[in-house]
Amino acid sequence: MSLQPSERHLQAVKPGHPHDRGGKAQPMLIVENLKKYFPIHGGLLNRKVAEVKAVDDVSFSVLKGETLGIVGESGCGKSTLARLLMHLLPRDKGTLIFDGDPVDEPRGMSLRDLRRNLQMVFQDSYSSLNPRLPIEDSIAYGPSVHGMSRAKARAKARELLEKVGLRPDLFAGRYPHELSGGQKQRVNIARALALDPRMLILDEAVSALDKSVEAQVLNLLGYLKRHFNLTYMFISHDLHVVRYISDRVLVMYLGQVVEIGPVEDIYTQPKHPYTMALLASRLEIDPDQRIDTPPIVGDPPNPINPPSGCRFRTRCPLAEPICAERTPTLGTGAFAASDHRAACHVTNPVAGHSFAGRSLQSIAPSEMPARFAESA
Ligand SMILES: Nc1ncnc2c1ncn2[C@@H]1O[C@H](COP(=O)(O)OP(=O)(O)O)[C@@H](O)[C@H]1O
Ligand code: SF4
Ligand SMILES: [Mg+2]
Repeated sequence: MSLQPSERHLQAVKPGHPHDRGGKAQPMLIVENLKKYFPIHGGLLNRKVAEVKAVDDVSFSVLKGETLGIVGESGCGKSTLARLLMHLLPRDKGTLIFDGDPVDEPRGMSLRDLRRNLQMVFQDSYSSLNPRLPIEDSIAYGPSVHGMSRAKARAKARELLEKVGLRPDLFAGRYPHELSGGQKQRVNIARALALDPRMLILDEAVSALDKSVEAQVLNLLGYLKRHFNLTYMFISHDLHVVRYISDRVLVMYLGQVVEIGPVEDIYTQPKHPYTMALLASRLEIDPDQRIDTPPIVGDPPNPINPPSGCRFRTRCPLAEPICAERTPTLGTGAFAASDHRAACHVTNPVAGHSFAGRSLQSIAPSEMPARFAESA
């Protein structure tokens, strides 16, 4: 199977569905101003000496029935974001609203309810399964803890094994070490589905698999999404896979959202120079794809002390003095499915950037500052 953009899986939750509390226009998840700084301790007294700005004022929505892809270089905060949404890490600041209900606030949704509704699948398929439990029991564990009888929880586990393509008569009694990587990841997906969640966060969930197995698991995720009416947040460093599976894509850089929009808009007409560079560095690998954009230069800056203004300015071919002085934003207001926004002064006609109002695709390398034009 080739990973070409194919059928889009966007589908609204059917009106009247028992799961659909907020109505189909209500986003499944709204994230507002989320922030997490990790303290770094040092010195004789082990005092806090600095902070890693892992997630810094992040806002976005995940719409019902969509797959929102999250991309960005290693260390940009993707996994921290996922863990904050799951409440596996305490947040410093920010609001989470799940289908209209604020999470973990008075009169809002409890953490226990959130865990029923929102589940996560990690990359490391082996360490997330208990090696001493047969896989049937691993899958049945969640429903048992939430009050289901042992017999019912086991029946549910077998039903889910079937759904993820593992015959229960062959696999129910096996232990994790008796499974291949792809089979273990299928078990992890079954386990994540055991409480009938409405949304899954998949953090590099297929990244450790061989290409052919990865394609099978991606197909399985498409089937499960339609069958169980799920919403996905799909995190990956692999731009091909994200293009294949996503309806919309969110691009992160140094703890912040720099661009968000429909998948084909992002891949064919990126608005942020970082996205453009990320896509260009992917195309460089393919000799048939000629690119006119300078590849991304240098390493990301240290998230302890990010650059002032726009965090991408130390690597951006279009950086101007205004980029150091003012922080570009994604704009305000709710995000619609068709919105394509980038946090770059070039996209803002009144920001004072000399390229303001121009599309990135119309800017020739010869127009860029010399150090970048040379490398084009
Ligand atoms: N527990 C932690 N303590 C300190 N720093 C952390 C911790 N977890 C992650 N970080 C830092 O936060 C940043 C974001 O990390 P992470 O969310 O894992 O990125 P990604 O998943 O995009 O690779 C990195 O600089 C990382 O080193
Ligand atoms: S704001 Fe300036 S530095 Fe940042 S991406 Fe846009 S042009 Fe580049
Ligand atoms: Mg990660």
